[in-house]
Amino acid sequence: MFIESFRVESPNVKYSEEHISSVYDYNTTDLVHEKNREGKYEWVVKPSTVTYEIQTQRKVPKLGIMLVGWGGNNGSTLTAGIIANREGISWVTKDGVQRPNYFGSVTQASTCRIGSFRGEEIYAPFKSLLPMVNPDDVVLGGWDINNMNLADAMERAKVLDMDLQKQLRPYMDKMVPLPGVYDPDFIAANQGSRANNIFKGSKKEKMDKIIEDIRHFKSQTKVDKVVVLWTANTERYSDVIVGLNDTKENLFASLERDEPEISPSTIYALACIQEGVPFINGSPQNTFVPGVIDFAVEKGTLIGGDDFKSGQTKMKSVLVDFLVGAGIKPTSIVSYNHLGNNDGMNLSAPQTFRSKEISKSNVVDDMVSSNAILFKPGEHPDHVIVIKYVPYVGDSKRAMDEYTSEIFMGGRSTIAMHNTCEDSLLAAPLILDLVLLAELCSRIQLKREGEEKFHSFHPVAALLSYMTKAPLVPPGTPVINALSKQRACLENVLRACIGLAPENNMLLEYK
Ligand code: NAI
Repeated sequence: MFIESFRVESPNVKYSEEHISSVYDYNTTDLVHEKNREGKYEWVVKPSTVTYEIQTQRKVPKLGIMLVGWGGNNGSTLTAGIIANREGISWVTKDGVQRPNYFGSVTQASTCRIGSFRGEEIYAPFKSLLPMVNPDDVVLGGWDINNMNLADAMERAKVLDMDLQKQLRPYMDKMVPLPGVYDPDFIAANQGSRANNIFKGSKKEKMDKIIEDIRHFKSQTKVDKVVVLWTANTERYSDVIVGLNDTKENLFASLERDEPEISPSTIYALACIQEGVPFINGSPQNTFVPGVIDFAVEKGTLIGGDDFKSGQTKMKSVLVDFLVGAGIKPTSIVSYNHLGNNDGMNLSAPQTFRSKEISKSNVVDDMVSSNAILFKPGEHPDHVIVIKYVPYVGDSKRAMDEYTSEIFMGGRSTIAMHNTCEDSLLAAPLILDLVLLAELCSRIQLKREGEEKFHSFHPVAALLSYMTKAPLVPPGTPVINALSKQRACLENVLRACIGLAPENNMLLEYK
């Protein structure tokens, strides 16, 4: 059964005009390695309970979303999707009339189990857990190194049906991206002809210009808050060099010196952090060099990334979790992709491909290291990633994967998968989720027992891991790639904000 909304009644939860406040017992375990009575070392597990107070601001702001790479396939598809949903635009396809939806968005199209009622499971929309921005109310803007308006950009992307495009054109043809920060050294040379909308100046001037753009957008649109998200071309990795970008001080000194190794994405990130505007990186490159992370922590500005986890990697973080969790040993994972959109063209250069290869490669690490029965220390499955540019297939990406595993008594099992799918239709709902959840995170404050003051989550937003291939986490924190754990983390943290126990699937009441 499905319910649209609900209210929690509990001595631990209070709804005031301003906040939802919850007093939450967080049950965890501490491990110690200590000598027992016989003088032998053994592991001892000590369950512990820590009480948190959590406050969520109820008032939802008017939100502006600024995309870097607004005119790209993802940027134009997200813009079109939001307008079509907001305006209720239906369109005719060869299969009949299609209505807009947000399929693929966890916040808008997934549900959570809330409890049971007369023996029936009750589900509510994910977005009903806490007050969240409604996508109908967001204002979109952003930058692109190409000056094409969003209506033409949508046509160039070749993602959406023509009947829908025709209806959307009047809403999108006046939307023109702001000039972007461009550096040909960081993206493929084949993008050069696209770069006709560029802000010129020193790196410091570029950062200042981005700040000015954000302020201007805010005042012009009268939004209360802005979130910026990078959905521009994949850049090559920046070299992390001691004295150059390893600390905040060194990075800012390098900026003043106009150091060539500071990437455009790092410049956008610095501008946002300076302005207290959350910045999310949807591409694989190391925008967040150590100096940027230092700065975000110092300013307490949310940063999140890296690289949208939309298709092949999402499957990988499900399948390998299943295999290793089942006690099966994946020994070879080979992923082939071909795609024909501009992203594919950009990735055909070795340096940008390398960024993607790195972010796709580490995704099974946590699962492999969780099972020492299957994998000896340092042992890892062979894991190979191939990406080829095939213009004809356009945005309709092909992903082919082969998983070979060792099973019982030396047997072999090989699973092969083939996925054909519009890449941007997978990525656009993730962009929406990332932005809405980043905004929500900025309204949550918590206080652990013994702490004097409420504070926000750590600025490095590990909570967004579900949507990213190579989750950025605070230094010294475990990286979780397994998709079900990431989703459970997200859902359970939101449940804690309204005083609900984590979803434990025990169903003891029926046993
Ligand atoms: P796209 O190539 O269609 O769009 C990128 C846009 O960024 C272009 O319009 C380009 O002109 C603009 N751009 C490049 N450098 C810029 C800069 N410095 N400042 C402002 N604008 C700039 O690519 P698409 O398909 O939209 O993908 C965007 C990014 O998202 C890529 O890096 C891709 O690897 C990443 N991504 C996409 C996924 C998907 O499923 N579509 C999944 C995972 C990551």
